[in-house]
Amino acid sequence: MPTELHLGSGDPATATTDAVVIGLLPADGDGAPVLAAGCDEIDAAFDGGLAELLAVAGAAGKADEVTKVVTRGALSAPLLVAVGLGKPPSAGAPTAEQVRRASGSAARALAGTAHAVSTLGRIDLAAAAEGTLLGAYTFTAFRSNGDPKAPVARVDLLSDGADDAEVLRRAVAVGTAVRTARDLINTPPNALFPESFAARARELAEAAGIEVEVLDEDALAEAGFGGVLGVGQGSSRKPRLVRLTWSGGASPRAKVALVGKGITFDTGGISIKPAANMDQMTSDMSGAAAVVATTVLAATLELPVAVTATVPMAENMPSDTAYRPGDVLTMYGGKTVEVLNTDAEGRLVLADAIVRAAQDGPDYLIETSTLTGAQMVALGTRTAGVMGSDEFRDRIAAHARATGEDGWSMPLPEHVRADLDSRVADLANVSGARWGGMLVAGVFLREFVPDGLAWAHIDIAGPSFHTGGPYGYTTKGGTGVPVRTLWAVLSDIAENG
Ligand code: BES
Ligand code: MN
Ligand code: ZN
Repeated sequence: MPTELHLGSGDPATATTDAVVIGLLPADGDGAPVLAAGCDEIDAAFDGGLAELLAVAGAAGKADEVTKVVTRGALSAPLLVAVGLGKPPSAGAPTAEQVRRASGSAARALAGTAHAVSTLGRIDLAAAAEGTLLGAYTFTAFRSNGDPKAPVARVDLLSDGADDAEVLRRAVAVGTAVRTARDLINTPPNALFPESFAARARELAEAAGIEVEVLDEDALAEAGFGGVLGVGQGSSRKPRLVRLTWSGGASPRAKVALVGKGITFDTGGISIKPAANMDQMTSDMSGAAAVVATTVLAATLELPVAVTATVPMAENMPSDTAYRPGDVLTMYGGKTVEVLNTDAEGRLVLADAIVRAAQDGPDYLIETSTLTGAQMVALGTRTAGVMGSDEFRDRIAAHARATGEDGWSMPLPEHVRADLDSRVADLANVSGARWGGMLVAGVFLREFVPDGLAWAHIDIAGPSFHTGGPYGYTTKGGTGVPVRTLWAVLSDIAENG
C-alpha cells in the first residue's frame, strides 16, 4: 500500500501519533543546529531546549541527516524524528528541493511506523507531500514475503497555507505519477516486454479516461515503422507502438508531443554488450515510463494542454532473426539508415516515433530516453543532458534544475552531422568518431525533427536509474526522472503558452 497522506491540524506536541517529524538547519557559526520553521509547539514542549538537546545527540542539520529522539512524555508521540534540511541559499528559507529531500529521508526513517505527523508541510506543503510519497516508495511485487519493512502507513502533514486541500491533491497526483514510472521501470524484463508494457499503458490510460491506440507488429509493418521493427525483430516478443492522448479539455492552450524510449531490455543485439551490469538494461524503457505517467497525470489534473505520448516499445535481442550491423532500415517517413552498431537502437525506434509524433502538428515536441552511456561520461549520474532547439532546450533545463531533478543544456554541433554520413544510406546510426557520443545521438535525432518545430531531447541514461544507496527521496532502482520536469514544462506551457 502506498503511504496515505492527510492534512494535519492542531498541536503536534499533543497529537496522538507514533512519531513527529521536524526540520533542522545548520548552525550559523559554531553551536547547536537551528530549528526550522513550524516547530514552536514542539520546542516549547522541550522547554525551549530542543536545539541543544539535538546537538547533544549529534545533530548538525545537514542534508540527509536523521536524528531520532525518544520523547519520554515531553510529546504525546513516543518518538521525535529531526531531519536535516541542509544550508538554505544565503539568508533565505529552505528551498522546495531541500524540503522534498528532508521529507524523503524522514519517510525512509519511518519505515515500519503506522502513523506520523510532519511539521515540514508548514514550510512547503507540496514539497513535503512529494518527498514523503517518493521517499516511502518500495517495490515488492516480486518478493515472496511482501514488504520486509512496510513503508510508513500514514503521514499527516501540518500546513499553514491557503488552499491546502487542493495543493495536497495535486502534489499527491504528481508523486503518484513518479511512483507509477518507478513501478514500470522496476518491473523485470521477463514481466515487462512490449506486449505487456502496452497492456499496462492501456490500463493506465483507460483508468484516466484517455484515448489509447496500440499498433502491433502487423500494424507497424503496414505503416512502415522500419526502425521499431528492425530493432524488435530479434526478439520473440514483438514490438509495439503505443499512443496515449489527453485532449487538453475544452480549450487547450497548446499541443505537446511527448516521445519516450521503450526498450524493455537492451542486450545490445548482435553488437552485444558485456555481461557486467547488463541487468541494468531493464531500465532502458525509463523514458517511455516517464511519458506514459506524465500523460496520465495531465489527464488526472485536467491540464489545459493537449498531450500525446508516442511510445515505441521493443526488446533488443541477438538471434537468427535479429537485425545486423550492415543492415539498412527504411524508417517511418522514408529516410534510410545504415545500422553500424545494433546497440545504438534507441535512436532507431525514436526516429520512427518522432516522425509519427510530428505528423500531429504539435507546438512542442519533447523526447526523453536512456540514450547514451556518454551522457554519464559528460554529466555524471544525476544530471540529464538536454539538447534541441535553443530556447526550448534552455527552458526545459531550467525547469529540470528547479524541480531538483537536474539537467543541463548541451549543444548539437553542425559539424557532427557529417560523421553520420553512410556509404549506402541517407545516414548511419553511429559515427566513427570517438568523442561526444551524447551529442552524436542528439544530432541523429534532429534529422527526423521537422524544421522550425520547438523540440528537445532529454538524455536520462544516468538519472533514470539509481544504483547506489538511497538518499533524500531517491530510492534504489527506477527514479521516475524526468516526470516532474515534464510536468513543470507542461504546467509552464499551460500558463504561458
Ligand atoms: N541503452 C543504452 C545507453 C545506456 C547505457 C543507458 C548505460 C543507461 C546506461 C543505449 O542503447 C546504448 O547502448 N548506447 C550505446 C551507443 C553506442 C553504441 C554508440 C552506448 O552508449 O554505448
Ligand atoms: Mn543499446
Ligand atoms: Zn538502449
